[in-house]
Amino acid sequence: MINLMEKEKMEQPISVPRQHVLEMRDLSIFYGEKQAVYHVNMDIEKNAVTALIGPSGCGKSTFLRNINRMNDLIPSARSEGEILYEGLNILDSKINVVNLRREIGMVFQKPNPFPKSIYHNMTHALKYAGERRKAVLDELVEESLTKAALWDEVKDRLHSSALSLSGGQQQRLCIA
Ligand SMILES: Nc1ncnc2c1ncn2[C@@H]1O[C@H](COP(=O)(O)OP(=O)(O)OP(=O)(O)O)[C@@H](O)[C@H]1O
Ligand SMILES: [Mg+2]
Repeated sequence: MINLMEKEKMEQPISVPRQHVLEMRDLSIFYGEKQAVYHVNMDIEKNAVTALIGPSGCGKSTFLRNINRMNDLIPSARSEGEILYEGLNILDSKINVVNLRREIGMVFQKPNPFPKSIYHNMTHALKYAGERRKAVLDELVEESLTKAALWDEVKDRLHSSALSLSGGQQQRLCIA
């Protein structure tokens, strides 16, 4: 049987000062006349995992999409209030959304790799940005796939189609 008293012997956790990477201030989101998110005030801590739990249709995806301004792509969507990212209100019309999405990414439940090789998926954006040196590309591919815990599973098949990966592997590829 577990000795519950053991706990008392455990060291006290070191107290780390809490830092908020995101702060929602009275955030409401609408689709036309219909309100989907109501007056959310919430702080999201840096370097921590935060989960949103709620019934279907309660506004979780709507809320997440607003954090990198993906709702801008839905003509009827609009929001009120503020989302402060490291202190800056990212709902401000002067925000450069392309740069914002470089900082705040999103990985969807259903992964969507390009129907090309694993290597192509990994290097497409780098090549688009002008990187052509094979050694640099190869190194970044290995580094990113290692960070996403996928390298060992795909290092011998980088030129196979990304669609031949399992669902979970495709998710990790999209993270990488
Ligand atoms: N593009 C849209 N246009 C109009 N209404 C929408 C749109 N997207 C979502 N909604 C509505 O906004 C509300 C919140 O939807 P949302 O997709 O954010 O819910 P959710 O919490 O992510 O649900 P689930 O758990 O099913 O994914 C729902 O009533 C939904 O019908
Ligand atoms: Mg959802």
